[in-house]
Amino acid sequence: MTMALRQIPTPPLEVGTFREAMRHLAGGVSVITAGVDERRTGLTVTSAISLSVEPPTMLICVNRNASAWPIIQRERHYCVNILGPRHQPIADRFAGLGGVKGAERYQGARWRQFATGAFGLEDALAVIDCAVEEIIERHSHGVIIGAVQAVHIGGGAEALVYGHGRYRPLNLA
Ligand SMILES: Cc1cc2nc3c(=O)[nH]c(=O)nc-3n(C[C@H](O)[C@H](O)[C@H](O)COP(=O)(O)O)c2cc1C
Repeated sequence: MTMALRQIPTPPLEVGTFREAMRHLAGGVSVITAGVDERRTGLTVTSAISLSVEPPTMLICVNRNASAWPIIQRERHYCVNILGPRHQPIADRFAGLGGVKGAERYQGARWRQFATGAFGLEDALAVIDCAVEEIIERHSHGVIIGAVQAVHIGGGAEALVYGHGRYRPLNLA
């Protein structure tokens, strides 16, 4: 059954206060990749999580101003590349640091094309290749549900985590 969208009254709240609260929410860092050849791009996120295990689905939240947004909409695919501490330069590039754009963000690392056509990082902790199942546009962002088509486990026992405005390694062993 589909529930009607309920309008929640917004209490007076400083955006800065909300931002400050979110600095405390540490998140695992992934790079979302989408597109093929020279039209490839992507972005760094902390919003990638699994939605369900059976069936295997992922959820990401992407700003509709991000350069990857129209590519994901058009190609209907994306890879979630789960990063470790050694991948911090890749996280920086895909976050737009240094003004690197599009396919240039892939330079300096090894990638391979997955079943959906999106490219995955060969030595990522894991790559989750997704076909877009549904896109929910809400406020500034799109909530993108992906049906998992393939998984590649690169391995490694250290995750890359972002919190309080900086990256940290997290030992998972
Ligand atoms: C640690 C980290 C996490 C981020 N998480 C998200 C996210 O979940 N969703 C999102 O839309 N942008 C997120 N961003 C911002 C995008 O990576 C960045 O805005 C984007 O790559 C730049 O947009 P451009 O591709 O248009 O240059 C994050 C950035 C960093 C550094």
